[in-house]
Amino acid sequence: MTRSGLGARAPKPMIVCSCLGISSSRIEALVADGATSVEAVTRACGAGSDCGSCRAQIAQLVAGGAASERSDGSPKRHLRCVATRAA
Ligand code: FES
Repeated sequence: MTRSGLGARAPKPMIVCSCLGISSSRIEALVADGATSVEAVTRACGAGSDCGSCRAQIAQLVAGGAASERSDGSPKRHLRCVATRAA
């Protein structure tokens, strides 16, 4: 049996910033929308603004996004945050 046509599954988002309940997919979306630094992500959604233990992981996500930055010259979208605090 072949696996053709099944497609690869996207990895499950995981919580990167446990203080604010911000997921990897949320940070990746911010990077795709133009966040180019940990500070930009923090400004947009608050991730990394409390204990700071997630900042290295945010940096990795930013670096990963930079590596796959748009090459088509399309404009970066405005950052917005819809983060919710963990209850
Ligand atoms: S885990 Fe992100 S600020 Fe604490």
